[in-house]
Amino acid sequence: MKQKERQDTSVHNPLKKERDRSETSSQGRHAHIGGVKSSKSVPKAKADSSHETTSSSKNMEASESLTSTMNKMSLTGEAETSRDIKSRSARSKSNHKPEEWMLLDKESDILTQLNLAIVGHVDSGKSTLSGRLLHLLGRISQKQMHKFEKEAKLQGKGSFAYAWALDESAEERERGITMTVAVAYFNTKRHHVVLLDSPGHKDFVPNMIAGATQADAAILVVDASIGAFEAGFDNLKGQTREHARVLRGFGVEQVIVAVNKMDIVGYSKDRFDLIRQHVGSFLQSCRFKESSLTWVPLSAMENQNLVSAPSESRLSSWYQGPCLLDAVDSVNSPGRDVSKPLLMPICDVVRSNSHGQVSACGKLEAGAVRSGSKIMVMPSGEQGTVRSLERDSQGCTIARAGDNVAIALQGIDANQVMAGGVLCHPDYPVSVATHLELMVLVLEGATPILLGSQLEFHVHHAKEAATVVKLVAMLDPKTGEPTKKSPRCLTAKQSAMLEVSLHYPVCVETFSESRALGRVFLRSSGRTVAMGKVTRIIQDS
Ligand code: GTP
Ligand code: MG
Repeated sequence: MKQKERQDTSVHNPLKKERDRSETSSQGRHAHIGGVKSSKSVPKAKADSSHETTSSSKNMEASESLTSTMNKMSLTGEAETSRDIKSRSARSKSNHKPEEWMLLDKESDILTQLNLAIVGHVDSGKSTLSGRLLHLLGRISQKQMHKFEKEAKLQGKGSFAYAWALDESAEERERGITMTVAVAYFNTKRHHVVLLDSPGHKDFVPNMIAGATQADAAILVVDASIGAFEAGFDNLKGQTREHARVLRGFGVEQVIVAVNKMDIVGYSKDRFDLIRQHVGSFLQSCRFKESSLTWVPLSAMENQNLVSAPSESRLSSWYQGPCLLDAVDSVNSPGRDVSKPLLMPICDVVRSNSHGQVSACGKLEAGAVRSGSKIMVMPSGEQGTVRSLERDSQGCTIARAGDNVAIALQGIDANQVMAGGVLCHPDYPVSVATHLELMVLVLEGATPILLGSQLEFHVHHAKEAATVVKLVAMLDPKTGEPTKKSPRCLTAKQSAMLEVSLHYPVCVETFSESRALGRVFLRSSGRTVAMGKVTRIIQDS
């Protein structure tokens, strides 16, 4: 990877931190900080597919051309038309018979990957909690921790030492807030956890959303201290509710509510119970099931109840439940769809300088590949084979669902491989569509969505210009049942079914078919206005 030139196809990139780290690590300049390391394949949020090389630091709010080269290519030239591709994609995936090598052997079966988002109101202690956890699990060395402590103290930010492991940029450290999603790794007995430490500040909700699109489960951090919980839970100014709604909108079901800073309230059971009662009834009103919620009182600062039972008697006297690490271990991972046909949304493309060789990077969402496997690049429909595979910059023989890899391709025109496209099994191409039915939640502060509204549609690493062509129904947020058919407009906090028409086709699946390819969000004028899932792919006549 070191010799390869990285071609940045990203225009805006809310998960910039991941990318920056990925670039530095691929250039060998920067050792990973503890467990925090790059992931070119825990994807940056969205990329368009223009050929120009653009800096990831480019303002993500900048207005962008939404017509993508990739999508145009799928409709022109020698590539098959989307109509051909659509009809071919009708072949039933249930016919797919995995070969033996695709299935998990015992060894790789031991740990399942769990993408875990850490969300919650600003300053609730998400980064401190993440940093502390990584340190306790040996992912941050004593030496590195001393360095953070010293530097943080020098800047008068002593209390942020653990957060500094995650908040790496000068601006984040100076302001004492997280701005972009940081990625870190640790293991529990059952899971290889990919931790996504998200920003809580309201200005960075789009970044939090981009992180949440990856989440299989989440830790919702709540600050227990007097006044802070109330501010974070406030209907208008707090982020706790919005973050919970975002998780639910993306179909995240399992949430660990970490009631943090219990040290400040003297580890009071009454305080914990009160918070549990308020947050619990709110989460149930968003259709989270009580049985999918775990409540863990803790103190990141005083290391209580993180990786072992609390030593503090004021807590252990009334709390006998799991510590945070055990709660994470108990989360059910979504399972690896190794026996389904291959699906890998392309998050990055690496082209070699000299040989015209091209590698597609991303996370396998379904299926498996090895050298020599036949693959198809969508939406262009080009077919080729896998030349070789790399995981964590090292060659590997097989990649299966859940793995983040770079796949070197053979026999494929490099120009047809774009971030936002999808690698798939040639017999089971991903759906390519322009007309979709979505179930969405309109976010706080969003301008109303009307029939004819022009929006940016985002799905996995693709984005496309969209027009709202039908407002189907408003939904009851508690039951999900339609309450009003054909509403005239949708305003903040409403749930609804609507139909969008995309200007050019994108690779997409329904959420029930593939969570990763069916989670979407809609943006307008640089703001995320709604998020949700694809409920139906509508074939245009
Ligand atoms: P954003 O990412 O900006 O939303 O903030 P955050 O949720 O990551 O909070 P961060 O970890 O930056 O911590 C904010 C402040 O809370 C820091 O001063 C921490 O030292 C403090 N803090 C975090 N956890 C605890 C805790 O358990 N007890 C006490 N007393 N303070 C804590
Ligand atoms: Mg933070």
